Amino acid sequence: MAVAIKELHTGREVTELDPTAFRPNPDELAFLQKETGIEDRDELVKHVVTTQQEVYRSRPYYCIRQFFFTRLQIARHPEYDYVLSIAKTDKDATFLDLACCVGTDVRKLVADGWPGHHAFATDLHTDYWDFGHKLFRDKDRCQVRFLGGDFFADDVLRIDEPLNTWTLYNLLFWPQTRLANLNDLKGQLRALFSCSFFHLFDLPTQQTLADRVALMLSKKPGSIAFGSHLSCGPGREPGELYGLPWLHNPQSWERLWDREKFECRTEMRRTEEFLGGHPDSGEYKDLGEYYSLVWSVRRK
Ligand SMILES: C[S@@+](CC[C@H](N)C(=O)[O-])C[C@H]1O[C@@H](n2cnc3c(N)ncnc32)[C@H](O)[C@@H]1O
Repeated sequence: MAVAIKELHTGREVTELDPTAFRPNPDELAFLQKETGIEDRDELVKHVVTTQQEVYRSRPYYCIRQFFFTRLQIARHPEYDYVLSIAKTDKDATFLDLACCVGTDVRKLVADGWPGHHAFATDLHTDYWDFGHKLFRDKDRCQVRFLGGDFFADDVLRIDEPLNTWTLYNLLFWPQTRLANLNDLKGQLRALFSCSFFHLFDLPTQQTLADRVALMLSKKPGSIAFGSHLSCGPGREPGELYGLPWLHNPQSWERLWDREKFECRTEMRRTEEFLGGHPDSGEYKDLGEYYSLVWSVRRK
């Protein structure tokens, strides 16, 4: 990168990207090798770094600079095995990765057994999904259907619009059917994953978000929304922290969910990682200890 780029949010002037920030763990490396078909480690690193540079030029975020998009967050979640088991018992089960970025987590779920044509992903920025195809070299074989758009917007999900069962049928049985909006999956999802998304918003917006997530989930008992994001940490009041509008503790988080309808499982974990980043990236060390909220809500 010859010219300095002003990083979004951090405001940092970045003149050079550091390729050594790409430090996949063995599982991440094996996953990338398998999905891209690039076995040779050096060649794979070159491919990932080239793709990252391209993504960063268009979306200069800290998380892209730190290669967070190569992490397998979903597989580390305590509910991961349970979620995989849903697809084994319910052949029509659908899954959504909400705010998927390049779509690494949804691809991991599919690689581990969730049928690709019953897996969906959505993000505000469609170009992330295009970069995902570049990264995984799978445009011609990826079965996951993606919708670009603002999850809060009516053209993505309308609260008052009834489910069109005919489009749902088409989506499930015709893998070529385009996902035109999320109304087509309303009340149908058996599992929804959302990582590092809620903490981007203030408390009232998080409540709206939780309500929209609940609207997407199937009423079948055991249907689950799960994910993780930064927490305020023990001994601190929920609120604004690290420049993020509202971080929770488990109690304040669970107040977002209707406890009559959902069983909440929430834990706060000390983490060496800031927003899933690499422990030795160093940049956020001055912020002290940080904690993530690892959560799930299951339909009763
Ligand atoms: C911090 S990233 C997390 C990405 C991914 N889930 C992960 O864990 O690596 C937040 C994501 O939320 C997406 N996003 C932000 N606002 C959104 C909105 N209103 N609707 C849908 N996606 C949104 C961004 O484009 C970005 O991909």
